[in-house]
Amino acid sequence: MKPTPSKKLSSLPPYLFVRLAQLKRQAQDAGLDVIDLGQGSPDLPSPEHVVDALKKAIDDPSTHRYPNNLGLPALRQAIAGWYRRRFGVSLDAETEVLPLIGSKEGIAHLLMALLEPGQGVLVPNPCYPVHYNGVVLAGGKPILMPLREENGFMPDLRKVTPAQARASKVLLLNYPNNPTGAVLPSNVLLEDALAFSRKHGCLVAYDNAYSELTFDGYKAPSILQIPGALEHAVEFHSFSKSYSMAGWRIGWVAGNADAIANLSKFKGFLDYGIPGFIQQAAVAAVEGPQDYTVRAAATYERRRDALVAALSDVGWTVPTPRATMYIWARLPKAAQKQGSLKFCERLILEHGVVISPGVGFGPYGEGYVRISLIAPEARLEEAAQRIGQFLSAKKPWLAKTA
Ligand SMILES: Cc1ncc(COP(=O)(O)O)c(C=O)c1O
Repeated sequence: MKPTPSKKLSSLPPYLFVRLAQLKRQAQDAGLDVIDLGQGSPDLPSPEHVVDALKKAIDDPSTHRYPNNLGLPALRQAIAGWYRRRFGVSLDAETEVLPLIGSKEGIAHLLMALLEPGQGVLVPNPCYPVHYNGVVLAGGKPILMPLREENGFMPDLRKVTPAQARASKVLLLNYPNNPTGAVLPSNVLLEDALAFSRKHGCLVAYDNAYSELTFDGYKAPSILQIPGALEHAVEFHSFSKSYSMAGWRIGWVAGNADAIANLSKFKGFLDYGIPGFIQQAAVAAVEGPQDYTVRAAATYERRRDALVAALSDVGWTVPTPRATMYIWARLPKAAQKQGSLKFCERLILEHGVVISPGVGFGPYGEGYVRISLIAPEARLEEAAQRIGQFLSAKKPWLAKTA
């Protein structure tokens, strides 16, 4: 007997980054020196004092036992303290904070914990893939809110129909935004989202994974700073980006206590939480000096400037994002017709530069590519030169559409 996938699973294409990894391997097997700017996986080492805290914690055999799925009280309190210092928001560490095995895990499981079959979720598009896939895997129905360049990559909540609003249990938002790099020009969208939630009774799930990776003096807000938000919203954060701890698998959710209690109950049936030694090291990350994060953001900012300039030198003008670790660029005109997937496949296989096709983030991402700033400036400049060669080579499909 051949076990077949469920309808939910087979309705989803293979995960974007799995496909990119296959193409990367093909390029390496063909002898290319590959520059990987695909996934948002930071190349910077985690903070030294956090690694030291992990080494110390792992010597304590009590951390070898099952952890508690509610998270270490010391970590929940440390996260509540960080919120107070960073955003001036007071949280109950017992009921309004929950450590997660990465925010990806938490987002997917929150949707599974809350959704009835067929229930709607308002999802921006393009989006970080789990915002869409998590809804499908939870048996819900994604209702796409297009993020258009002319709107600053912000959804227009006035375009949600009354029927869609009634059908929706969750409204997802993510700023600073992956993949577009957009930041909010003001708190208006956050206030509108909370008013929408009050009117229609849905939960706002705000993904703030990039709150600390901001540039040019911009500081990202928390939705929990808006008065009354604790009644209507939860906010996800990640250690992966702020502290370059993507491989450690740890993040957290904060906010509405009922939503968090439901997620925690759901996770209680599935996992035991995060290994104790990782949680102890995470306490050192949020309670220790935050200059690591400031330096990491400055590094991405320098890389951003280097890549934007190098791409401009080869004739490709791309926007300068004020946050995240991504450049979201409209495909050069000559490549528009072929689409983002074909463009990226050829760039990987012919020039060894891995970037992500916009369509991998949803239909409204078509016509764009995402380039991650996960290599030093010299490698980014080398990637831009190869992209320049790719664009200027008179490939048949480029010539045809030029
Ligand atoms: C918007 C967004 N949310 C969440 C995550 C996942 O983070 P974590 O490593 O905490 O699961 C990512 C990772 O790229 C992301 O871009």
